[in-house]
Amino acid sequence: MYKIEIDGQEESFSCGDGDSLLRGGLRAGIGLPYECSTGSCGTCKFQLLEGETENLWPDAPGVTDRDKQKDRRLACQNRPLRDCKIKMRLDPAVVPHVVPRRKMVRLVESRALTHDMHEFRFASETAANFLPGQYALFDLPGVTGSRAYSMANLANDAGAWQFHIKSMPGGAGSHALFDGVMSPGQEVEMDGPYGLAFLRESPRDIVCIAGGSGLSPMISIARGVATDSRFRARRLHFFFGGREPRDICGEELLRELPAFAERMSYYAAISEPTVAPDAWEGPRGFVHELAAQTLQDPLADYEFYFAGPPVMAEAVQKMLMREHKVPFGQLHFDRFF
Ligand SMILES: Cc1cc2nc3c(=O)[nH]c(=O)nc-3n(C[C@H](O)[C@H](O)[C@H](O)COP(=O)(O)OP(=O)(O)OC[C@H]3O[C@@H](n4cnc5c(N)ncnc54)[C@H](O)[C@@H]3O)c2cc1C
Ligand code: FES
Repeated sequence: MYKIEIDGQEESFSCGDGDSLLRGGLRAGIGLPYECSTGSCGTCKFQLLEGETENLWPDAPGVTDRDKQKDRRLACQNRPLRDCKIKMRLDPAVVPHVVPRRKMVRLVESRALTHDMHEFRFASETAANFLPGQYALFDLPGVTGSRAYSMANLANDAGAWQFHIKSMPGGAGSHALFDGVMSPGQEVEMDGPYGLAFLRESPRDIVCIAGGSGLSPMISIARGVATDSRFRARRLHFFFGGREPRDICGEELLRELPAFAERMSYYAAISEPTVAPDAWEGPRGFVHELAAQTLQDPLADYEFYFAGPPVMAEAVQKMLMREHKVPFGQLHFDRFF
């Protein structure tokens, strides 16, 4: 274990067992800012004042050449090699509500939701403890670096974990999960929960916007709204966007919820303009446009959760904040890099 001091802070933490500075800090209950945990967003930058770290992914897109010149590093991709002193701003809002833990999980089964999205079910010996909307980090066989996948179900004592995962062409994690590298019964290491876009109590009705692989955490949020008595009086509007009709899914999962008929609605749009009129009779365009057309103004009356590729998350954020003046505090999202 190495001692990590933070410049200007009384708090320090111990980091070991192969943990990155980010994971070690969060495990110790320190509010180190982050979003993706996988080297892409750049939120977790720090400067090393004393000590030595190993850079797990020198080419991570989260650091620019300018960052490298200024010796800014990623806490999620640096592991201490001895005691260190770092310079990093802390954010009390990101102190974990559920402390992330490593555990072995066993693949139970997978089933297709669409042509390229599967539901994967895993089981752990101990309870599955997380908030709706959070994600876990997986170390998959033959894959360098961890992959983040968001839980689709709710916390439970039985140790059941569900994930909706989209296969990305050429992706290493996708290859491990979709091409038979893993089979039911096999164990992998998982670490979590992580993520800040979790379901929060609020006096407003809830909107979920999912693009493609963003389905999983939005289904978890919807399940939370359906079953948690604090949200009994809340309506939920669920928007899903895909390119083609064969990408559209999620409605059947929501219809299973007893609250669906009473206070939930599902809408889907496709964005590929060349799809023939008889192949899709529903709305067309991007999912944020569908949400803006469907919801009643003012949009600042809603609490928004959204997940999907960075380009979709940025379009939703721009639409809500610039065009509809929704306060940033009502937006909860993770970009899927
Ligand atoms: C917060 C979050 C939640 C997510 N939730 C979901 C989900 O619920 N469902 C879903 O389908 N997808 C989800 N994703 C996307 C998912 O993590 C993968 O990026 C995607 O599935 C493609 O992975 P791949 O391994 O197939 O592709 P690859 O191209 O092999 O890898 C893509 C990602 O892996 C990471 N990576 C690549 N190389 C390295 C390396 N050497 N070291 C460390 N990291 C590396 C990077 O983050 C990169 O963007 C989520 C992503 C994030 C950030
Ligand atoms: S949290 Fe480290 S780059 Fe995103």
